[in-house]
Amino acid sequence: MPKFTRTLVTTALPYANGPVHLGHLAGVYLPADLYVRYKRLKGEDVIHIGGSDEHGVPITLTAEKEGISPQDVVDRYHRMNLDAFQKCSISFDYYGRTSLPLHHKTAQEFFLDIEGKGIFTKKTEKLFFDRKADRFLSDRYVTGTCPICNNAEANGDQCEQCGTHLSPLELINPKSKLSDATPELRETMHWYFPLGRFQEALEKYVTLHEDDWRPNVVNYSRTWLKQGLNDRAITRDLSWGIPVPLDTPDAVGKVLYVWFDAVLGYISFTKAWAEEQGSSERWKEYWQDPQSRLVHFIGKDNVVFHTLMFPSILMAWNEGRETERFNLADNVPASEFMNFEGRKFSKSRNYAVYLGEFLEKFPADTLRYSIAVNYPENKDTDFSWQDFQNRTNGELADTLGNFIKRSVDFTNSRFDGEVPCDCTPQEWNSLGINWPEALEQLDLAFEQFHFRDAVSVGMDIARAANRFLTSSEPWKVIKTDREAAAKAMALSLNLCHALSIALSPVLPETCNKISAMLGFEGTIEDRIAAGSSLFDQLLLPQLKAGHKIRANSEILFTKIEDSDIAPELKKIEALLAEAEKREAGAAVQRMEFKPVISFDDFGKVDLRVARVLSAEKVKKAGKLLKLQVEVGSETRQVLAGIAKHYTPEEMVGKNVVLVANLAPRTIRDEVSEGMILAVEGADGKLFVLEPEGSEINGQPIQ
Ligand code: 2FM
Ligand code: ZN
Repeated sequence: MPKFTRTLVTTALPYANGPVHLGHLAGVYLPADLYVRYKRLKGEDVIHIGGSDEHGVPITLTAEKEGISPQDVVDRYHRMNLDAFQKCSISFDYYGRTSLPLHHKTAQEFFLDIEGKGIFTKKTEKLFFDRKADRFLSDRYVTGTCPICNNAEANGDQCEQCGTHLSPLELINPKSKLSDATPELRETMHWYFPLGRFQEALEKYVTLHEDDWRPNVVNYSRTWLKQGLNDRAITRDLSWGIPVPLDTPDAVGKVLYVWFDAVLGYISFTKAWAEEQGSSERWKEYWQDPQSRLVHFIGKDNVVFHTLMFPSILMAWNEGRETERFNLADNVPASEFMNFEGRKFSKSRNYAVYLGEFLEKFPADTLRYSIAVNYPENKDTDFSWQDFQNRTNGELADTLGNFIKRSVDFTNSRFDGEVPCDCTPQEWNSLGINWPEALEQLDLAFEQFHFRDAVSVGMDIARAANRFLTSSEPWKVIKTDREAAAKAMALSLNLCHALSIALSPVLPETCNKISAMLGFEGTIEDRIAAGSSLFDQLLLPQLKAGHKIRANSEILFTKIEDSDIAPELKKIEALLAEAEKREAGAAVQRMEFKPVISFDDFGKVDLRVARVLSAEKVKKAGKLLKLQVEVGSETRQVLAGIAKHYTPEEMVGKNVVLVANLAPRTIRDEVSEGMILAVEGADGKLFVLEPEGSEINGQPIQ
């Protein structure tokens, strides 16, 4: 008996704060759609649940910037993204929204359950408060100078320039994004989820899956586990979000942290789907029956939320329960990224092709095909207009489209639009295609999320079919041997039918057109719903003698002319030129000197030669090295943002330049008593200044 009898597929909920782009499609939504369409083809019980992530600070920032309400923002992008997904034939069984009451209720139930078990802890901490705006500022609302690289526009959670994860308290000269005022520190209480309590269970969970999850998924999870899991605040002081469902004074003005609520969206949307089916308890089959398989499709930036956070929330719910226990994900196929013309997609820099806009110009299936063959399974891949044009014109139009059209047209013109004879299994197996093997390959490829392989098995069948028809030459043979031509056409039409099934996950619209040209009523989806496993039909020829096909054919793929993609290439040129200008501008800016200072001012800076005694990495601060340096008779501890450029071993023994009279600062709970000097090279590499000389340790630099 198979281990699982049904599958629940979820796709990362995109923030309703902007349009989805081709990178999102490639990493998450298309692979998930290929997978569910394949499962349906096999007649399996599968549902695909997705929706919009409608909370979170970036949404409120957009609303404030545009002078509209957060609800207006999410309404706009929810509609836009749903529409783009529909145009792209992404077949969600339910596409929800986290602003829905049913979702709020579900997330609050989880909060109350975990709170009731005494699992959360409460902590009071000091957070920035904007007096002018009269509110606490979450990380994203604070900006200031990065303590590591001096970028004056670092965000309170991360510095975009050097990539360091920061806390707003680490910023130099913090400012509120709301009013530009310098915020003040005020105490506020928050609920924390103790991830550490689940450390052991999560380690077991990841180990259980170390052979079937992708290496990147296991590695990201293990990196976190190795550092030791800490408490995570799961509430925020905000007005947009799901209110903390308690009547106590300390809950006033608090909402659930967006990630705590978003992952629970998978559950509430399944509930909404069940309600829509008229069977409101059915969601439980997918979440709570151990024979149901849960699969999360996500991008690599969301791994730990799905392999550690969400499972631990479910573990907390399951604690002390014999029934109504939730399943944990059986697999989390996280993708790498797909780049665009050699560069990373960037929403903030508008370097992107948005799905909706793309589909206004080109058909969905051509995009689905190009993206599927470039699926970023285990390394970043690239989408280019040239590749899109080549694949559409060559593989889709010349190979697949041409074969189908020739088969249908010749049958109509010479065999009265009927399959002229039966084909035997032996004949079916003599076409240069090993059907049982092809089916096994397809099955393995889809089940193990190797989507590029799955598409190539389908296209190999199309190539073999094309070769068969071309070499059989029924248009010549018919003049001397009508029976042989009839056989060639019967086999060709059956090949058309096989292709309409094998390629339907990737080319759903096209395959429905093929199916209609072959005379089938209803879509492939209708035929699946009628109960047959279409996948197994590939093993034998299905169209019998006398089967009527449609009297006219249609062109399945229109070739893409150079002139069609010329405007797109021009747009990229402009975007790239803009990016180059920005980068050059940044370089020029760096050449601008700071205001003149007096000799005395300079004299205030005490620069000394120091020697590195020991060095180690700082936990959860990938860029930082903690150095112990000897400066004359003293030993100092200094934190330096050089971990990406020097290993701890490389630093030991080096002479460095120490700013010795800088006021101490605390970063990541570690004190830094000074700063060491370094210079950045053109490619962003840092070089530590290394003074040379004999007996110079502790000496001033002047
Ligand atoms: O990274 C993102 O776009 C998040 N909105 C994904 C959320 S996935 C899930 F947790 F809902
Ligand atoms: Zn920085």
